[in-house]
Amino acid sequence: MVRLKRQESPPVDQSAFQQQLAALRDHRAAAPGDMRQVFAADPQRFKTFSATDGDLLLDWSKCAVDAATMDLLEKLAAAADLEGRRAAMFAGKKINVTEDRAVLHTALRNLSGKGVTVDGQDVKADVISVLDAMGAFADAVRSGKATGATGKKITDIVNIGIGGSDLGPAMATLALAPYHDGPHAHYVSNIDGAHIHDTLKGLSAETTLFIIASKTFTTVETMTNAQTARQWIEKALGKEAVGKHFAAVSTALDLVARFGIEQDRVFGFWDWVGGRYSLWGAIGLPVMIAIGPRNFRAFLDGAHEMDEHFRSAPLRKNLPALLGLVGWWHRVICGYPARAVIPYDQRLSRLPAYLQQLDMESNGKSVTLDGTPVTTPTGPLVWGEPGTNGQHAFFQLLHQGTDLIPVEFLAAAVGHEPDLKHQHDLLLANCLAQSEALMKGRTLQEARAQMLAKGMKPADVDRIAPHRVFSGNRPSVTILYRKLDPRTFGRLIALYEHRVFVEGTLFNINSFDQWGVELGKELATGLLPVVEGKESAAKRDASTAGLVGYIHQLRGS
Ligand code: F6P
Repeated sequence: MVRLKRQESPPVDQSAFQQQLAALRDHRAAAPGDMRQVFAADPQRFKTFSATDGDLLLDWSKCAVDAATMDLLEKLAAAADLEGRRAAMFAGKKINVTEDRAVLHTALRNLSGKGVTVDGQDVKADVISVLDAMGAFADAVRSGKATGATGKKITDIVNIGIGGSDLGPAMATLALAPYHDGPHAHYVSNIDGAHIHDTLKGLSAETTLFIIASKTFTTVETMTNAQTARQWIEKALGKEAVGKHFAAVSTALDLVARFGIEQDRVFGFWDWVGGRYSLWGAIGLPVMIAIGPRNFRAFLDGAHEMDEHFRSAPLRKNLPALLGLVGWWHRVICGYPARAVIPYDQRLSRLPAYLQQLDMESNGKSVTLDGTPVTTPTGPLVWGEPGTNGQHAFFQLLHQGTDLIPVEFLAAAVGHEPDLKHQHDLLLANCLAQSEALMKGRTLQEARAQMLAKGMKPADVDRIAPHRVFSGNRPSVTILYRKLDPRTFGRLIALYEHRVFVEGTLFNINSFDQWGVELGKELATGLLPVVEGKESAAKRDASTAGLVGYIHQLRGS
């Protein structure tokens, strides 16, 4: 039974918060702002509405904010006690009140500073001991010391996990491809047998290592795929080979033991690490095997640097706080329902999928910390694809659709392929062009003038020009960094984690539980015998019963 605990930081004075909220709404109503005008009037605008931390730059000047907006947002953050909530998180207070847990993914990357205490125990020694064990195992696999059952070197690792036990490491493996000098890494997540089937198709059992990654070690997708993997190994190499071909990552060490994975191949973590925040510890094992412990450490160091920045930088220079405030402004005050994340960095192509869990599982909530209904919208729909691909797909809607969707662009100044610098320059030109186009748009007169200058007939200009109008004044944020190396990548992901925290604080919700995923899981369990035809669908609603009937009809059963 989950006990609801009182907040571990003093309750926020809601009247002060409501006052700031009203002030922001009034401010927006009085001056919705036209970005073309404000850029024309203020050559310093970029300087005023951008901030850096090291080489990382956040530019929110192409958003409809002014100095007064930023003042009001700063007061709002104070009214929401952002500082107090942040301190409570870093101190290991049990801010996940519905699960009575601390939220300490930051401790997984705090390897040199002062340790943090949970329930009277310093967690740092545990963190370092798991990291060392991961390092030793990763080195053994990479060097060929830890072979498969027939003595062959491991060439492929297959991570079996889902959600937080998949999205983070899968994204990171792709992001850090230039540093990948270990075995090939594959990720199987879906319960759809096609996923594991297609993944294993090209692999040899003799040289494949499975990592079963599950915080709870009960998730049906992961457990089912793990059984399939075990059968695959047993069929090819015999039962006794299993030990050499499996490792596990979990907080449920008793359940792992029952599955039969050898003790020295089990890497633990703790209930104070949320699934979607777990990439930094043992869940990162496939990444560590792929890129090596040294690069993995640089990734952790980068994230720790961002933690320190988030803890200590003043709000006006604090990148996660600013990104969160602007995100909240767009969602709550401007009423935009979604945000698009568009990395102009092919290796971040899984970032949007990762952020969907990080952001939407964290902030897709309808009740406040004390269980009462929220009075403002909460987390937006988060989606995206890499640029330039997105330009040839959904950018039409971003530029001319009827909904305004703020866009977050990410790009590296320098690519990893010096020989292909020209392509990187084209990539950056496209990225900058898109945010400029969203902001500036094109008026009817401009469209007409351009068409006439090209020699089009006036009648055609009249007919076509309205289709060539871009309203402009569409907000975007740009995040630039020098190069996507492990340290920078760590900083970026920690930046997004803290931004979700900032927005969750302003929404006054618990960003660290996920009760919304439970109902579907429960119903799926009950529906399995119905789909299998062992139970009647008669008691289901008419649609579900009808769908089951149609599936059976298609199967001829
Ligand atoms: O279904 C949601 C969820 O609980 C996520 O929060 C979690 O990351 C994922 O399932 C996987 O859970 P586990 O790591 O326990 O298998």
